[in-house]
Amino acid sequence: MYICVCRGVTDTAIRDAVRRGADRMRDLKTNLGVSEQCGICACHAKEVLEQALMQKVVAQRHFTHTHSLIRDSA
Ligand code: FES
Repeated sequence: MYICVCRGVTDTAIRDAVRRGADRMRDLKTNLGVSEQCGICACHAKEVLEQALMQKVVAQRHFTHTHSLIRDSA
């Protein structure tokens, strides 16, 4: 789904940027051009950014927990 129509940025592109290390609106602006023109997309882009960051944290915790279980069972 398009989040920033002016720059043709999708939610998938934002999630990919978060996987590559973006963690602020400034990063999305610099890397993807989000909200650099009309700015209407800023609120929705921030929501997608926050969701993606939350998913990244949950995935990292799951990975760490799983590895500690494997390590403890060895
Ligand atoms: S919709 Fe993103 S800058 Fe216009």
